[in-house]
Amino acid sequence: MKQVLTPLAACIAATVALAGCAGSGMSSSSAASAPGTSGSGSARATATLQPKSGTNTGGTVNFQQQPGGVMMTAAISGLPPNSVHGFHVHEKGDCSAPDAMSAGGHFNPTGKPHGQMTMPDHHAGDMNNVTADANGNVRVSMLLPDLTVGTGANGVIGRAVVVHKDPDDYKTQPTGNAGGRIACGVVAAS
Ligand code: CU
Ligand code: ZN
Repeated sequence: MKQVLTPLAACIAATVALAGCAGSGMSSSSAASAPGTSGSGSARATATLQPKSGTNTGGTVNFQQQPGGVMMTAAISGLPPNSVHGFHVHEKGDCSAPDAMSAGGHFNPTGKPHGQMTMPDHHAGDMNNVTADANGNVRVSMLLPDLTVGTGANGVIGRAVVVHKDPDDYKTQPTGNAGGRIACGVVAAS
């Protein structure tokens, strides 16, 4: 506030040209807002996927806050060639069980039915299926409109990311019938 008030006070006292006062006022207000903008725009979180249910599937999932939601970028390896897998944010940040059932159900803070991200009804944690290439690797990014990088009601920190054995059909309730859980990682701030 001092940076904004001081130039205005100086203008009134000195009775300088109005154009000069407007110019100095604008420059000091934009300078004052810059630190806050860069601080909130840099929120990031990461999950390291650990193999579950006897597989060798692993990887890294990054989340970055953006104006329209959270940009999720995943790198997954150890999948069967050209296979398709359900992929969700689950409610509990607990991957301790060998079958990852400790992660609970899909993250669903607003009590919606399960569905695809592009449908009106879907869990906040519903993401599109991921498809492995001929070497069993996935590299994919998706913008997730219903999540935030934080610990609030829609926050992804403290949740878990799960890779499933089978594709999500985007309609079976409440799981998408995606089969067992073959990798799991707890989301932590990064
Ligand atoms: Cu899942
Ligand atoms: Zn779901």
